[in-house]
Amino acid sequence: MSNGFNIRGYDYVEFYVGSAKMTAYWYARALSMNITAYLGPETGVRDRVSYYLTKNNLKFVITSPVQPSCYDVYGFIQQHGDGVKRWAIEVDDVEAAFKYATGNGAVMVYRPVKLEDDHGYVEQAAIRLYDDTELVYINRDNYDYLFKPKYCEPVQKINIDTIDTGIQGIDHIVGNVRENEMNLWANYFNKTMDFETFVDFKAGDIGTKYSALLSKVVRTSDSKIRNPINEPFEGMKKSQIEEYIEQYHGSGVQHIAIATDDIIHTIDSLRKNGVEFLSVPDTYYDRLRERDDVQIEENIDDLQKHGILCDTEGDGYLLQLFTKPTSDRPTFFFEFIQRHGNSQGFGKGNFQALFESIELDQKLRGNLDRDPTEVMPPC
Ligand code: FE2
Repeated sequence: MSNGFNIRGYDYVEFYVGSAKMTAYWYARALSMNITAYLGPETGVRDRVSYYLTKNNLKFVITSPVQPSCYDVYGFIQQHGDGVKRWAIEVDDVEAAFKYATGNGAVMVYRPVKLEDDHGYVEQAAIRLYDDTELVYINRDNYDYLFKPKYCEPVQKINIDTIDTGIQGIDHIVGNVRENEMNLWANYFNKTMDFETFVDFKAGDIGTKYSALLSKVVRTSDSKIRNPINEPFEGMKKSQIEEYIEQYHGSGVQHIAIATDDIIHTIDSLRKNGVEFLSVPDTYYDRLRERDDVQIEENIDDLQKHGILCDTEGDGYLLQLFTKPTSDRPTFFFEFIQRHGNSQGFGKGNFQALFESIELDQKLRGNLDRDPTEVMPPC
């Protein structure tokens, strides 16, 4: 039965960062996104700047404070570092989506509002997710300019030399939450947004000999929105989820998976543009060649050359690769993914190789065994 608001798909994701100008440059240079619009003092907003970047269906907003009074952004980055503040989903009816959510227990951030200017209006409302994260319902059908009111053409037009990456849009967004919070948030999505639990990875399904996690995937029934939620599980050493919670100082968005139609080209371009990826050992490809169930269009030598992972979970197969954390804290990162056939998985067969690679970096950072109460000497 229809829920009355119809989720169309992902709209934009907004990041709060220390320096939006520099970060927007990285997104334009490294991911070959276009700086499409800008909001700031020049457009009448005194305390912050936002850069709106687009590439095919991918839409990011990068925001920084420029006045001490910009408490919400300063508070966020002081606590969490650079990270995802909000992600938006496009709906037919913002009012109906908001009513459905709050009527089923969602925590309100703000009620439906109409943002207007000479180009029309945008409707949006927001509910709370995780600690400091928000989910925005948006409809921009009646707006015919760049993005939203108060955004204008970029004030500074700089020519950024980049190699096209061919990235298309968001495949899924993943949240990391504390121990015993995963079910709470999975139920929250299911009840307030009419999602369903698609996959439930239990104890022992995901992990290495050192660290483990539990994961549930919630999604819309048509799979347009897919949202895995991870929580740490007891292991011999500190799991990557525990490291995230400790370094992010709370729960939040761990990674965004970006879809591509040609992952070999995408990863090749991203590497040339300076993006750093987790490394995959050659033994991974030796094992891949030995598997009878792996029938893929791509040449495994090409996958090995570019360090791309392959998984055959479910119908079809997927190819994926994960970046290193994109900021200084080991928190948020990107995944790039190409799905073939009716592949609906998330790379379960690659989790072990992925975790082992992350553990190498955790060890370098001293975060695999470190006592969190340890006092650091001055630098
Ligand atoms: Fe993922």
